Amino acid sequence: MKSKVEVIQGDITQLEVDAIVNAANSSLLGGGGVDGAIHHAAGPELLAECRTLGGCDTGDAKITRGYNLPAKSVIHTVGPVWRGGGVGEADKLRSCYKRCLELAEERGMRSIAFPAISCGVYGYPLEQAVEIAVGTVIVGLYDCQSIERVVFCCFSKEMELLYQRQLAEE
Ligand code: AR6
Repeated sequence: MKSKVEVIQGDITQLEVDAIVNAANSSLLGGGGVDGAIHHAAGPELLAECRTLGGCDTGDAKITRGYNLPAKSVIHTVGPVWRGGGVGEADKLRSCYKRCLELAEERGMRSIAFPAISCGVYGYPLEQAVEIAVGTVIVGLYDCQSIERVVFCCFSKEMELLYQRQLAEE
């Protein structure tokens, strides 16, 4: 399963994959960080579709079209805000990765790219988040037939190195 996973440094809005994942908030109505970048690149039709979805719970995911993005779809997921680790943050973060894979698989998608969910304003400790991201995806891929390629798209070189190191340990 590891062979289906790759780590790159770059801007997720530029990736030509079946779906990019958005690290959204529960309103699904946009925000800063990767969410802002995705809405900006996709155009206003994305927000219009998001308005019809009725928000999203933490740990869950919902799908839209990609509009002006090179990606066909966007899977919006809501990561946990880090509050010290004692209120189920790890389970919620695992659930984000699982739900995104499930939605992609249900639709027969072949490629999906993830940003580092919760690793920006939501303040999740980076090494713990990366361990959950890589571990959950590798295990989750055993239940997937259609997904051939998972990209972890890191905004910084520092994050890329953390992901590479984690992948090497799996
Ligand atoms: N491509 C790839 N990764 C990116 C990009 C990009 N274009 N831009 C930022 N990142 P964050 P969160 C990285 O804060 O912590 C929003 O306001 C960034 O460096 O975007 O889940 C939402 O509306 C970091 O590693 O998401 C929510 O309110 C990672 O993406 C809240 O932020 C995630 O950082 C969600 O917070």
